[in-house]
Amino acid sequence: MNQTVFKLDEVSYAYPQSEPVLSNISLEIVAGERLSILGANGCGKSTLLKILAGLLFPQSGTFTAFGKKVEREHFKGNLSTVYHRRIGFVFQDSEAQLFCSTVYEELAFGPLQFGLPKDTIRKRIDELSSILDIEKLLEKPPFHLSGGEKKKVAIGSVLILNPDVLVLDEPASSLDPRSQTWLLHLLQSLGKAGKTLIFATHDLDLVPHVSDRAILFDEDHTIAADLPVKTLLKDPKLLKQVNLVDEHYHTHPWDFQED
Ligand SMILES: Nc1ncnc2c1ncn2[C@@H]1O[C@H](COP(=O)(O)OP(=O)(O)OP(=O)(O)O)[C@@H](O)[C@H]1O
Ligand SMILES: [Mg+2]
Repeated sequence: MNQTVFKLDEVSYAYPQSEPVLSNISLEIVAGERLSILGANGCGKSTLLKILAGLLFPQSGTFTAFGKKVEREHFKGNLSTVYHRRIGFVFQDSEAQLFCSTVYEELAFGPLQFGLPKDTIRKRIDELSSILDIEKLLEKPPFHLSGGEKKKVAIGSVLILNPDVLVLDEPASSLDPRSQTWLLHLLQSLGKAGKTLIFATHDLDLVPHVSDRAILFDEDHTIAADLPVKTLLKDPKLLKQVNLVDEHYHTHPWDFQED
């Protein structure tokens, strides 16, 4: 049995002066799983991912990561640094992630924080920027990039630290079809390398290729279903419920191959 990476027990979360956007969520994720989180706009997907990434803390319930309870009070200094090295988070909004004056500095930021030698960092950036096809962007300011370019740089700034767990919020959004295919292959190879992959998406084309398990959120901020992706794709009622298909959808067109 693989190691438990995350365990949520009756976790609830509300932003200040608002109703709960996560209600009594219980969930366990083990190492090497490939999991997609699905649900309508506003149901709480990004909030859940931010809890997993150690950026928000539940108001009630228990959240443990790698067997240790994660709480704001214990989550300072060294523990937070170690956590963020093991768990990489790609924000839904790339602008929230990018803040340096060049793409090169953006990619170097994490490794510099962890004290990696400059030569090693340069080598990693050379390799990664070739994989991401962003070599030509390295000297540009991130705020001059297109939405898709920003997304690639944001993904790069996480991959550069080679985390065990990747939490990606809408990784395919703003990517063109070629870049989406590139992302699909990237996620597949990360999965084969044994990484734990957790992502939120509305992109049903991506789901069967890069995840085996799906968590479906209801609009009342609870988990409506936790099931194998193959089972989900055979259930048009559930797909409609979580807004992955619209009311015109009758039969499922997928005849997807085993990857
Ligand atoms: N910083 C915040 N302050 C107050 N309310 C917030 C904040 N961030 C999100 N919310 C609210 O919490 C709810 C859940 O938001 P969240 O971003 O988790 O949804 P989501 O499922 O990721 O939606 P989407 O599919 O649109 O990305 C929404 O109603 C949103 O308006
Ligand atoms: Mg979201």
